[in-house]
Amino acid sequence: MNSEFKHVAIIMDGNGRWATQRFRPRVWGHVRGSAVVSDIVQAADDLGVGALTLYAFSTENWRRPNEEVSVLFKLLHKFLLKERARLIANQVSFKVIGDTTRLSPATKKLIADLEAETANFNGLKLTFCFSYGSRMELVRAVNRFMEENPGKELKEEDLDHFLMRPETGDVDLLIRTGGEQRVSNFLLWQIAYAELCFTPTKWPDFTVSEFQRILQSVGQRERRFGGLSPKAVTTENKQAQAIHV
Ligand code: IPE
Ligand code: IPE
Ligand code: MG
Repeated sequence: MNSEFKHVAIIMDGNGRWATQRFRPRVWGHVRGSAVVSDIVQAADDLGVGALTLYAFSTENWRRPNEEVSVLFKLLHKFLLKERARLIANQVSFKVIGDTTRLSPATKKLIADLEAETANFNGLKLTFCFSYGSRMELVRAVNRFMEENPGKELKEEDLDHFLMRPETGDVDLLIRTGGEQRVSNFLLWQIAYAELCFTPTKWPDFTVSEFQRILQSVGQRERRFGGLSPKAVTTENKQAQAIHV
C-alpha cells in the first residue's frame, strides 16, 4: 500500500491511564508504550508514509514529577540504542526536534550521531518531538527570521523555512490516541489543513492494524482545502446559471 498521507503525526497519549487501570505505576505505561513506537515506525515505513512525526515529550510535560520525566528520558535513550541499526538499514532519516539541552550528554551524542548518519537517507522521515512545544517552535522561527532578515516582512513561506524540520511540510493526518480531543501545543502551524483522528485506544494498546484501518478510513475523506470537490463544481455551474443575483 502506498499511503495517500505524505505526513502523519501522532500524539501518543494514554500511557499513564493505561497503567493506572492495571494497578501499575504510570511509568509502566511508558515502558509498554515505547515498544509500540517501534512497531508503528516500521508500519509507517512499510505502508509508504513519507514522514512520521511523533510527540514523545512536550514542553509542558516538564510539570510532571522528576521520576516520571527521568524514565521518559531513559526510554528515549534505550529506543535509540535498540532501533539504531534498523533505522539505518531501512534508510530512515531521523531527527529529534525540541529543546534537547536538558538531555544527558550520552543521549545527545546518540541523537547527533544518528541524525548525522541518516541525514541524507531517502526513506521515511522520522521525527521525534522531545521537549517540544509548537509555540516555542513558532517563536524561535520568527526570531531567527528577524535575525537573518532585519526589517523584512515575514511571509508564510519564510515561516515554513524556519521551522525545526521544514522538509516534512504540512501534516496530512493527525492521530491522537488516549481519547482526549485536543492538540496540546503540537504542530499548530503544520496542522492547518490536517485530517484529525481521535481514537479512544490508549497508546500501549495501539496496534499496526488499527493504524492501517485509520489510514484507510481517513483516506476516504474528501479533502477540499477550502475549495469544492470536482463533482460539486460541475453541478454548481449548471444550477448557478438559473439563479440571477
Ligand atoms: C503520553 O501518555 C506520554 C506523555 C505525555 C509523555 P500520558 O503520560 O500523558 O498518559 P495519560 O494521558 O496520563 O494517560
Ligand atoms: C500530549 O499529551 C503530549 C504527548 C503525548 C507527548 P499530554 O498528556 O501531555 O496532554 P494533555 O496534558 O492531556 O493536554
Ligand atoms: Mg496524557
